Amino acid sequence: MSADHIDHEAALAALMWLVELGADEPIAEAPVNRYALATEAAKPATAAAPREASPAAASAVRAPAGPDPVAEAEAMAARAQSLEALAEAQAAFEHCDLKKGARNFVFSDGNHKARVMIIGEAPGREEDLEGRPFVGRAGQLLDRMFAAIGLSRGSPDAESALYITNVMPWRPPQNREPDASEISMMLPFLRRHVELADPDVIVLMGNTPCAAALGKRGILRLRGNWTEAFGKPALPMTHPAYLLRNPAAKREAWSDLLELKAKLKELE
Ligand code: URA
Repeated sequence: MSADHIDHEAALAALMWLVELGADEPIAEAPVNRYALATEAAKPATAAAPREASPAAASAVRAPAGPDPVAEAEAMAARAQSLEALAEAQAAFEHCDLKKGARNFVFSDGNHKARVMIIGEAPGREEDLEGRPFVGRAGQLLDRMFAAIGLSRGSPDAESALYITNVMPWRPPQNREPDASEISMMLPFLRRHVELADPDVIVLMGNTPCAAALGKRGILRLRGNWTEAFGKPALPMTHPAYLLRNPAAKREAWSDLLELKAKLKELE
């Protein structure tokens, strides 16, 4: 293959790679003037005080401290007395910038009376389009995994049902992981979500929910070991997206699913 020729397979592989990285929109809905963005970014965040100004004058020109997003999230979440009210409150939360780039708010799916609540990371492309968590390839694998121990999001019976949510309800750009400040803004909503759904056990699917609920990362070390999150027994598991990339890890995931099944029996 010459440097200026790319065959069909290579072109397709390159395209899939770009999609993996999140470049799934050749043209955005509205044009973006990136030169203007660069100028905006270069501006200082607050007006600088004149050099000779007194400390009092300097503080007078400093921008006023904005609201504390975490405190506001806590107040909004605490007021919610039902899952519907919580979804409404979280959807109305304006301090998380990821909201601006997302098509849809993704709150939950499944049966909220389920004994098992799964917490994932954040919506990907399909979830953002559909407004439901775990509906893409990883979600389909998740459904197959849990069906193998008799649990499904479609079940009307709490015993065999699943309730599914994510730490982050808006899709991050390029499917990047939510950062620490984004996670801390969402944590009050997640805590209240668990409180209102009141499952018997929680599954923490991957590193981001472990970071949010346990303050720890290192899923390959944490997986399969029962811990406690939001006052509930919690089982960290490897994310199905990881299992799609590392099929050999499915063996351990199967042993974690059996652990979960045994715990549900034990708590009956
Ligand atoms: N990965 C997640 O963690 N959550 C989703 O909803 C989809 C993919």
